[in-house]
Amino acid sequence: MELGLKGKVALVTGAGSQIGFGHAIALALANEGCDIAANDIDLDGAKKTAAAVEKLGRKSLAVKADVTSGAEWESMVKQVLDKFGRLDILVNNAGGCSPFKPFLQMTDKDWDFDININLRSTRNGMKAVLPQMVKQKSGKIVNITSGAGIMGGMFTSGYASAKAGVIALTMGVSKEAGPDGININCVSPGPANTGFAKNAPPGFIDNFPKQLPIRRLTTTQDVANAVVFLTSDAAADIVGQVLIVSGGPAP
Ligand SMILES: NC(=O)c1ccc[n+]([C@@H]2O[C@H](COP(=O)([O-])OP(=O)(O)OC[C@H]3O[C@@H](n4cnc5c(N)ncnc54)[C@H](O)[C@@H]3O)[C@@H](O)[C@H]2O)c1
Repeated sequence: MELGLKGKVALVTGAGSQIGFGHAIALALANEGCDIAANDIDLDGAKKTAAAVEKLGRKSLAVKADVTSGAEWESMVKQVLDKFGRLDILVNNAGGCSPFKPFLQMTDKDWDFDININLRSTRNGMKAVLPQMVKQKSGKIVNITSGAGIMGGMFTSGYASAKAGVIALTMGVSKEAGPDGININCVSPGPANTGFAKNAPPGFIDNFPKQLPIRRLTTTQDVANAVVFLTSDAAADIVGQVLIVSGGPAP
């Protein structure tokens, strides 16, 4: 199957965590021939991922930006275009969750954190890259959502609401961008042992596979494979969808 990813330029947000989805996505895209802009709020982490990309023989750029800020997005996209001259793929992966809490104990600060880091960031990212993709008359965007955004999340109501918003945003904007040759989709990972897992209650992640048909935890490579597919020519007809990569439906 020809993926058509050779020579494409991809920007992956939240790619600094060396055990996270973003790192695995950046390397998987580089393996298929993409040059990579690795973003994170943690510049050292982004630099490590950029160095790993270069080891695979592709060009890279480490960019520090807080994805909740529209101004920082503008500056980041400018840096990517200055270095590579084009931008073909955006993976809105950076995200996070306020501490797990019952709904009635959630503060406005918790709510704003969840909405900003997951939903506002995704909106900011699409707003920043779409003008360039429209100019190129092509582009692929993958937004990382979560099972919590589909089924609701117990003790994570803000996070779940934000991730549900990511799905609605993806579907809506995909209808506007499709005529310009731009495919926008979501990947919804199951719980995985990334930096994110540190936030979950003890045992939550490790015990999760017992509930799954396939009895194994989602890996960062599972999610990276799905992103490679959705950003490839093989997924040219897939628009506004949620690809669930989670070992099957949990009860
Ligand atoms: N791990 C899971 O169980 C799971 C399940 C479903 C969805 N997700 C989603 O996967 C995505 C990636 O998370 P992960 O699991 O790899 O966790 P992670 O903590 O390993 O990685 C998240 C990365 O995002 C970066 N980041 C945080 N705030 C940022 C900001 N404001 N600007 C730029 N970068 C920022 C962090 O520094 C970190 O490198 C998130 O959107 C998360 O909601 C995770």
